[in-house]
Order: sequence, then structure tokens, then C-alpha cells
Amino acid sequence: MQRHPSLIPLSHEHKRLLFVCRYLKKNAAPYEGFPLETQAKFEYVVKVFQELMVPHIQKEEYLFEKCMGKDPAVDALIKELQQEHRIISGMYSTLADSRQLDEDMDRLATSLEEHIRKEERQFFELLQQLFPEFLNSLQFEK
Ligand SMILES: [Fe+2]
Ligand SMILES: [Fe+2]
Repeated sequence: MQRHPSLIPLSHEHKRLLFVCRYLKKNAAPYEGFPLETQAKFEYVVKVFQELMVPHIQKEEYLFEKCMGKDPAVDALIKELQQEHRIISGMYSTLADSRQLDEDMDRLATSLEEHIRKEERQFFELLQQLFPEFLNSLQFEK
């Protein structure tokens, strides 16, 4: 299903984050301008979390809040996604003390990728099917 206009900004951020996930994995292919040394990857993930991931999660949590209490299937999915936000944020915060940074960045990338796919393939699809009018009225800028 084509993405609803209200969800397109989040979907664009997902595309950028999926690229970050590929880069953070242990078997990452070389990309121009993206060094594969562990420390360089770590510095990149810190920048991405501060600049992109934290605001992204805030926007989604706002969306979750607005969508809660309308449909049991949506509510259940929101609870899972909120729990995943906590897990992923927790994985990110422990990276600074990690003794196996490559493995931990790889795990973070795998979890984030699965989370994004669930949002895109299940959550957004469900919202578009169930609440198209609600999405029309949705504004992220408060
Ligand atoms: Fe999310
Ligand atoms: Fe997301």
C-alpha cells in the first residue's frame, strides 16, 4: 500500500535508518565516506542517535499516544513497539561501555532493522487501513 502523506516523513527517516543499520553490521559493505573501523562506526552511531533517532522516536511516541484506545490490535502493536523503543534505546546507551563494540553495534542494527520493518509493514499498514481520516488530520508539528 502506498504510504499515507502524513506518514511519509517517518518513512523517509526509516529509509535513512535502514542504511545506518546496514552500515553498523559486522559484514557491512564499504560505502564511500563511511569508514569501517569500529571507532568510526561508533562515532557515527552516536551522531545518528542524537540527530535522527531520538527525534524520530519522539515523533513516533506522539503518534502512538494519538492512536491509542481506538482499536485493540493497534493498541497491542503499540505496546510492542514502545517496548522495542526502550530496548533499542537501552542497547544504544550501553554501547559507550561495551567491550565488544562490533558485536553490540551489530545486535543494535539487527534489532533496529526488525523494529523498522514491523512499523512499516504492520503498524503503518494497519493505521492506513483502519484510520485513514484520522491520518488526514494528523500533524506532527505541535
Ligand atoms: Fe520506532
Ligand atoms: Fe520508526
